[in-house]
Amino acid sequence: MKRRTFLSSTALASLGVLFTRSGFASSSERNTIKQPSSPIKKPVVVSTWIHGMDANKAAWSLLKANKSALDAVEQGVRVTESDATNRSVGLGGNPDRDGNVTLDACIMNHESECGAVACLQNIENPISVARKVMEGTPHVMIVGKGAEEFAYEKGFPKKNLLTDEAKTAWEKWKATEELKKPEINHENHDTIGMLAIDEDGNLSGACTTSGWAYKLPGRVGDSPIIGAGLFVDNEIGAACATGMGEAVIRIAGSHTVVELMRQGKTPNEACKLAVERIIAKHKDLKGLQVGFLALNKNGEAGGYSTYAGFNYAYTDNAKAELIDAGYEMEW
Ligand code: GLY
Repeated sequence: MKRRTFLSSTALASLGVLFTRSGFASSSERNTIKQPSSPIKKPVVVSTWIHGMDANKAAWSLLKANKSALDAVEQGVRVTESDATNRSVGLGGNPDRDGNVTLDACIMNHESECGAVACLQNIENPISVARKVMEGTPHVMIVGKGAEEFAYEKGFPKKNLLTDEAKTAWEKWKATEELKKPEINHENHDTIGMLAIDEDGNLSGACTTSGWAYKLPGRVGDSPIIGAGLFVDNEIGAACATGMGEAVIRIAGSHTVVELMRQGKTPNEACKLAVERIIAKHKDLKGLQVGFLALNKNGEAGGYSTYAGFNYAYTDNAKAELIDAGYEMEW
């Protein structure tokens, strides 16, 4: 097992923890995920917001050709990263306070292997750099200049990510010099998180963003943080988050959703409970939009958000549609 594997079996073994065949540390942590009433649905891919519709199309073309969920989620979110009209992910993303576009991304597979980059500049597809971190290094996360140099070493080309439109909007904002909470809604879609289960029943996930518009330089949100923006446990399910990253990090959001599914909650119930926890832990809820998306081992999906407006793209063998998630509050 490689060092980057999220849990070290060696360390746990030294603590005297025994593993069952399914990988659970003790009987009290056994998988309580409900058995599906109908056959397990696979493949399935889900992703956050309406931009997920195009991303799902790319992912689906791989899933239906029997490719892995890992390949599908990487190729899926690359579509959004390369869309210059999208102002919250990759190329064309809103810059930080100083006008630099800095990107965060992570990826996780069915073997609990994961890779991430944060505060990465000048690279169009950070998700593929994150995959290289996962597959080509003993590390999980590389940030800033180190990540950029690593990307060049791996053959990624340098690219100016600040489009004229994003620059003009930033210059307008700069005139007011105000650090505002981002308006996260259907027009400013925020992160793309994507989860997939493939024909073999294996789960993977990817998450990528340019983060909070006009953030303080060096700010990193939830999206590249395994357990916050994304978490995959192939025994149980996968979850990802969108919205105010600081709030997601405070409750280790995506890990929380997966653990709630481990306790027998449906994806919808797990996302709702995580949202309720965020609401309980924050005094100021103004503008605090967070959405969770989950996919369990049975191929069942669900989503939930603090405020109205969050939706997710869903694709399986029968349909491709945009689904409005449940929510706690109206704006
Ligand atoms: N959820 C994206 C961010 O807060 O950066």
